[in-house]
Amino acid sequence: MSTVTPLEPQVMDPAAQANAEAAFRDAHPTFGSTAILDELRRTEYRRLDARGDVYLDYTGGSLYAESQLEDHLRVVRDGVYGNPHSVNPTSSASTALVDRARAAVLRHFNAPPGEYACIFTPNATGALRLVGEAYPFGPQARFLATCDNHNSVNGIREFARAKRARTAYVPLDAPDLRVTDATLERHLDAGGAARHNLFAYPAQSNFSGVKHPLEWIAPAHERGWDVLLDCAAFAPTSTLDLAAWKPDFVAISFYKMFGYPTGLGALLARVPTLDRLRRPWFAGGTVVAATVQSDTVAPHSGHAGFEDGTVDYLGIPAVEIGLRHLERIGVGTISRRVEALGTWLLEALQRLRHSNGAPAICIYGPRTWDRRGATVALNFLHPDGRVVDERFVDLLAAAHNISVRTGCFCNPGAGEAAFALSRERMIGVELSEGMSFDDYIARLGMPTGGAVRVSLGLASNFADVSRFVAFANEFRDLADVPPGLPPRVGC
Ligand SMILES: Cc1ncc(COP(=O)(O)O)c(C=O)c1O
Repeated sequence: MSTVTPLEPQVMDPAAQANAEAAFRDAHPTFGSTAILDELRRTEYRRLDARGDVYLDYTGGSLYAESQLEDHLRVVRDGVYGNPHSVNPTSSASTALVDRARAAVLRHFNAPPGEYACIFTPNATGALRLVGEAYPFGPQARFLATCDNHNSVNGIREFARAKRARTAYVPLDAPDLRVTDATLERHLDAGGAARHNLFAYPAQSNFSGVKHPLEWIAPAHERGWDVLLDCAAFAPTSTLDLAAWKPDFVAISFYKMFGYPTGLGALLARVPTLDRLRRPWFAGGTVVAATVQSDTVAPHSGHAGFEDGTVDYLGIPAVEIGLRHLERIGVGTISRRVEALGTWLLEALQRLRHSNGAPAICIYGPRTWDRRGATVALNFLHPDGRVVDERFVDLLAAAHNISVRTGCFCNPGAGEAAFALSRERMIGVELSEGMSFDDYIARLGMPTGGAVRVSLGLASNFADVSRFVAFANEFRDLADVPPGLPPRVGC
């Protein structure tokens, strides 16, 4: 346990608070159109204020409404459900619920009928792994990814290399941590005549909040690339219209969209591209028939060929319930809400200065609300410009009941670009056996172990962001952090 004691908290005067909210509402008139979310905060999400939690980690996971739990409980309590791999009445009841949820997912993303399959997976990572392990990589194939990607996408390079495919990364430009269209085109053009080229990028960065353009999909297709769009961080607050954009693969996690259930995600796959995948194994549920003595196997086509074993047939009905909740609110409403709050947050944080006039905060990625979502990566700065150790921020945030994420957020490429870590600086510096993570980042010359991530979502309100800004104020004129911070265990 650390011996760190919190700084003196900023006392919030309720009248000043009300004035600040009124000024915010005046400056962001669209916020008024999201009043349904203030109402839901008082009812469906009342536990937040009852417990005094300031939840700012929606990119980690969203929050569920009470009614989602109640509706799900009613479904499982009132029915009798058996394993769907049968045809008996209770099995058919499960199949009907799973099929309804599958159709609801495809409807939510406006998938043209018959054009996409919805494969249930344990999470977005499970969806990405399905693509990576079954994509027809080979010596003539390529895997291209933006440096801004979650490790669950980066890991696909191991599948590609194991089959001797070429792999490449598209670099990011600082300070906004975006990819320029010209850089991307150069990399896409290098695909050449190879038959199986896979390009993977996140529709929204889980590090910087950058929304990478959906407009990349068509030119990638024209140059012969299949497109894997990681929508884990995008789908909770943005609309993806599959009829308009047509990526080949989309990965999502449902708990990031509506908080409950955990342990379920989906791969949405264009059927013709899905048909080109070759799975490395088969399992219960994925085959029409397999024989032992004659060594044959006839895989199922479509989603069934990719759902290993028994799907989570009691959990999956909660997906339909969650989607209904989201649709009742409207993803557009959530989007407008986080835009207003996120714009205010970005401006307020950048106004914070030490007494010597130096900025108290450094933001990684876009500093204005321009083609971005409500995920803000930042570090606090000491008055002399040094970065405040993120472990201290973590401890203080916890003392204030504020939930933010610290570290590198499983997105090393965006972190490397944010901290200007060049390839040259990294080569030869490896996390060898016995070396602590703290020693590793010190050898890399990193100013700290990563960043602080603040992210907003459907239950965020003005009080949450203003409490974070009040918390940020406590770092003004902080000359140093006390000793005794716990060791870092990893990124
Ligand atoms: C952009 C992005 N992709 C993939 C993932 C992996 O999601 P999961 O851990 O639910 O598999 C995350 C999780 O934070 C993410 O933000």
